[in-house]
Amino acid sequence: MEILALIGSPRKNSNCEIIVDEMAKGAAENGHTITKYIIQDLDVAPCSGCELCRKGKDCRYEDDGTEIIDKLANGASVILASPIYFGQMTAQAKTIVDRFYSIFNNPEKSFSEDAKAALVLTHAYPGDYDAYLQLTITQPFENNTEMQFIGALDVGDVKFPGDVKEKEDVLKEAYELGKKF
Ligand SMILES: Cc1cc2nc3c(=O)[nH]c(=O)nc-3n(C[C@H](O)[C@H](O)[C@H](O)COP(=O)(O)O)c2cc1C
Repeated sequence: MEILALIGSPRKNSNCEIIVDEMAKGAAENGHTITKYIIQDLDVAPCSGCELCRKGKDCRYEDDGTEIIDKLANGASVILASPIYFGQMTAQAKTIVDRFYSIFNNPEKSFSEDAKAALVLTHAYPGDYDAYLQLTITQPFENNTEMQFIGALDVGDVKFPGDVKEKEDVLKEAYELGKKF
Protein backbone atom coordinates (compact mmCIF):
# COMPACT_ATOMS: atom_id res chain seq x y z
CA MET A 1 0.00 0.00 0.00
CA GLU A 2 1.16 3.53 -0.64
CA ILE A 3 1.54 5.75 2.42
CA LEU A 4 1.54 9.49 1.85
CA ALA A 5 3.75 11.38 4.30
CA LEU A 6 2.44 14.92 4.48
CA ILE A 7 5.28 16.94 5.99
CA GLY A 8 4.30 20.29 7.42
CA SER A 9 7.78 21.52 8.31
CA PRO A 10 9.08 24.27 6.03
CA ARG A 11 12.70 23.50 6.98
CA LYS A 12 15.32 21.40 5.22
CA ASN A 13 16.58 18.37 7.20
CA SER A 14 13.55 18.79 9.40
CA ASN A 15 12.98 16.62 12.43
CA CYS A 16 9.61 15.70 10.93
CA GLU A 17 11.23 14.36 7.77
CA ILE A 18 13.87 12.40 9.70
CA ILE A 19 11.12 10.76 11.78
CA VAL A 20 9.12 9.96 8.63
CA ASP A 21 12.24 8.35 7.10
CA GLU A 22 12.48 6.04 10.13
CA MET A 23 8.80 5.19 9.82
CA ALA A 24 9.40 4.40 6.15
CA LYS A 25 12.01 1.78 7.12
CA GLY A 26 9.45 0.04 9.35
CA ALA A 27 6.69 0.30 6.77
CA ALA A 28 9.00 -1.11 4.07
CA GLU A 29 9.33 -4.31 6.12
CA ASN A 30 5.67 -4.93 5.43
CA GLY A 31 6.03 -4.11 1.75
CA HIS A 32 4.65 -0.57 1.94
CA THR A 33 6.15 2.45 0.24
CA ILE A 34 6.11 6.00 1.57
CA THR A 35 5.80 8.97 -0.75
CA LYS A 36 6.92 12.19 0.90
CA TYR A 37 5.17 15.48 0.23
CA ILE A 38 6.95 18.55 1.62
CA ILE A 39 3.97 20.90 1.57
CA GLN A 40 6.19 24.01 1.70
CA ASP A 41 7.68 23.05 -1.69
CA LEU A 42 4.30 22.44 -3.31
CA ASP A 43 1.51 24.57 -4.67
CA VAL A 44 -1.45 23.76 -2.41
CA ALA A 45 -4.29 26.25 -2.18
CA PRO A 46 -6.21 26.61 1.06
CA CYS A 47 -9.84 25.46 1.01
CA SER A 48 -12.05 28.38 0.00
CA GLY A 49 -15.20 26.91 1.54
CA CYS A 50 -17.06 26.93 -1.78
CA GLU A 51 -18.69 23.56 -0.91
CA LEU A 52 -18.54 22.31 -4.51
CA CYS A 53 -17.43 19.01 -2.97
CA ARG A 54 -20.74 18.75 -1.10
CA LYS A 55 -22.46 18.58 -4.50
CA GLY A 56 -20.32 15.59 -5.51
CA LYS A 57 -17.90 17.67 -7.56
CA ASP A 58 -14.11 17.67 -7.48
CA CYS A 59 -12.37 20.40 -5.52
CA ARG A 60 -12.25 23.65 -7.45
CA TYR A 61 -8.46 23.71 -7.10
CA GLU A 62 -6.30 21.70 -9.45
CA ASP A 63 -2.86 21.97 -7.91
CA ASP A 64 -0.32 19.77 -6.14
CA GLY A 65 -2.93 19.02 -3.47
CA THR A 66 -5.08 17.28 -6.09
CA GLU A 67 -2.69 14.33 -6.38
CA ILE A 68 -2.68 13.88 -2.60
CA ILE A 69 -6.46 14.07 -2.30
CA ASP A 70 -7.01 11.75 -5.28
CA LYS A 71 -4.64 9.16 -3.81
CA LEU A 72 -6.37 9.32 -0.41
CA ALA A 73 -9.77 8.94 -2.07
CA ASN A 74 -8.38 5.90 -3.88
CA GLY A 75 -7.20 4.05 -0.79
CA ALA A 76 -3.80 5.43 0.23
CA SER A 77 -2.73 5.61 3.86
CA VAL A 78 -1.31 8.75 5.45
CA ILE A 79 1.20 10.15 7.93
CA LEU A 80 0.72 13.77 8.95
CA ALA A 81 3.99 15.13 10.39
CA SER A 82 4.14 18.70 11.63
CA PRO A 83 6.12 20.84 14.00
CA ILE A 84 4.20 22.82 16.57
CA TYR A 85 4.19 26.51 15.65
CA PHE A 86 2.52 28.76 18.21
CA GLY A 87 0.87 25.80 19.87
CA GLN A 88 -0.60 24.08 16.81
CA MET A 89 0.35 22.39 13.53
CA THR A 90 1.93 24.66 10.90
CA ALA A 91 -0.07 26.52 8.28
CA GLN A 92 1.43 24.22 5.65
CA ALA A 93 0.08 21.14 7.43
CA LYS A 94 -3.33 22.68 8.09
CA THR A 95 -3.65 23.72 4.45
CA ILE A 96 -3.51 20.16 3.19
CA VAL A 97 -5.59 18.85 6.12
CA ASP A 98 -8.38 21.28 5.22
CA ARG A 99 -8.37 19.85 1.69
CA PHE A 100 -9.38 16.48 3.27
CA TYR A 101 -12.80 18.16 3.45
CA SER A 102 -13.16 17.63 -0.29
CA ILE A 103 -13.28 13.89 0.40
CA PHE A 104 -15.20 13.92 3.68
CA ASN A 105 -17.79 16.35 2.36
CA ASN A 106 -18.24 14.67 -1.03
CA PRO A 107 -21.03 12.05 -1.19
CA GLU A 108 -19.19 10.36 -4.09
CA LYS A 109 -15.86 9.98 -2.25
CA SER A 110 -14.44 8.44 0.89
CA PHE A 111 -11.21 7.44 2.53
CA SER A 112 -10.60 3.71 2.63
CA GLU A 113 -11.49 1.66 5.72
CA ASP A 114 -8.42 -0.44 4.91
CA ALA A 115 -6.15 2.60 4.95
CA LYS A 116 -4.26 3.65 8.07
CA ALA A 117 -3.29 7.00 9.50
CA ALA A 118 -0.60 8.18 11.90
CA LEU A 119 0.35 11.54 13.37
CA VAL A 120 3.72 13.05 14.30
CA LEU A 121 4.03 16.33 16.18
CA THR A 122 7.44 17.79 17.02
CA HIS A 123 8.10 20.67 19.37
CA ALA A 124 10.99 22.36 21.12
CA TYR A 125 9.58 23.09 24.52
CA PRO A 126 8.23 20.82 27.20
CA GLY A 127 4.82 22.50 26.88
CA ASP A 128 1.88 20.22 27.37
CA TYR A 129 0.57 19.30 23.93
CA ASP A 130 -1.47 16.28 25.05
CA ALA A 131 -4.80 18.05 24.54
CA TYR A 132 -3.83 19.34 21.09
CA LEU A 133 -2.51 15.92 20.07
CA GLN A 134 -5.75 14.26 21.19
CA LEU A 135 -7.85 16.86 19.40
CA THR A 136 -5.93 16.28 16.16
CA ILE A 137 -6.36 12.52 16.45
CA THR A 138 -10.09 12.92 17.04
CA GLN A 139 -10.56 15.42 14.26
CA PRO A 140 -9.73 15.10 11.43
CA PHE A 141 -8.63 11.50 11.70
CA GLU A 142 -11.15 9.56 13.81
CA ASN A 143 -14.22 11.69 13.16
CA ASN A 144 -13.66 12.84 9.59
CA THR A 145 -12.06 9.90 7.83
CA GLU A 146 -12.77 6.18 7.55
CA MET A 147 -9.07 5.33 8.03
CA GLN A 148 -7.84 3.33 11.01
CA PHE A 149 -5.78 5.55 13.27
CA ILE A 150 -2.72 3.53 14.35
CA GLY A 151 -0.73 5.87 16.56
CA ALA A 152 0.87 9.20 17.28
CA LEU A 153 4.36 10.36 18.19
CA ASP A 154 4.62 13.41 20.44
CA VAL A 155 8.28 14.39 20.09
CA GLY A 156 9.39 17.16 22.44
CA ASP A 157 12.80 18.73 23.07
CA VAL A 158 13.75 19.02 19.38
CA LYS A 159 14.56 22.59 18.42
CA PHE A 160 17.00 22.69 15.52
CA PRO A 161 16.90 20.69 12.28
CA GLY A 162 18.40 17.25 12.88
CA ASP A 163 18.12 17.33 16.69
CA VAL A 164 16.05 14.16 16.67
CA LYS A 165 19.00 12.17 15.28
CA GLU A 166 20.38 12.21 18.84
CA LYS A 167 17.22 10.59 20.19
CA GLU A 168 17.56 6.89 19.57
CA ASP A 169 14.43 6.08 21.56
CA VAL A 170 12.32 8.33 19.34
CA LEU A 171 13.81 6.90 16.15
CA LYS A 172 13.04 3.39 17.40
CA GLU A 173 9.47 4.39 18.24
CA ALA A 174 9.12 5.86 14.75
CA TYR A 175 10.39 2.65 13.19
CA GLU A 176 7.95 0.60 15.30
CA LEU A 177 5.04 2.86 14.36
CA GLY A 178 6.00 2.46 10.69
CA LYS A 179 5.79 -1.31 11.11
CA LYS A 180 2.14 -0.97 12.15
CA PHE A 181 1.20 0.00 8.60
C1 LIG B 1 7.53 30.12 14.18
C2 LIG B 1 7.84 29.03 15.16
C3 LIG B 1 6.96 28.79 16.20
C4 LIG B 1 7.22 27.79 17.13
N1 LIG B 1 6.33 27.56 18.13
C5 LIG B 1 6.57 26.58 19.04
C6 LIG B 1 5.67 26.33 20.12
O1 LIG B 1 4.63 26.96 20.25
N2 LIG B 1 5.99 25.35 21.00
C7 LIG B 1 7.13 24.61 20.90
O2 LIG B 1 7.36 23.73 21.72
N3 LIG B 1 7.99 24.80 19.86
C8 LIG B 1 7.75 25.77 18.95
N4 LIG B 1 8.61 25.96 17.90
C9 LIG B 1 9.75 25.05 17.74
C10 LIG B 1 9.46 23.92 16.74
O3 LIG B 1 8.26 23.25 17.07
C11 LIG B 1 10.61 22.90 16.77
O4 LIG B 1 11.79 23.55 16.38
C12 LIG B 1 10.34 21.67 15.91
O5 LIG B 1 11.21 20.65 16.27
C13 LIG B 1 10.55 21.93 14.47
O6 LIG B 1 10.38 20.72 13.78
P1 LIG B 1 11.04 20.50 12.36
O7 LIG B 1 12.53 20.35 12.59
O8 LIG B 1 10.40 19.28 11.82
O9 LIG B 1 10.74 21.75 11.56
C14 LIG B 1 8.39 26.98 17.00
C15 LIG B 1 9.27 27.24 15.94
C16 LIG B 1 9.01 28.24 15.03
C17 LIG B 1 9.98 28.48 13.89
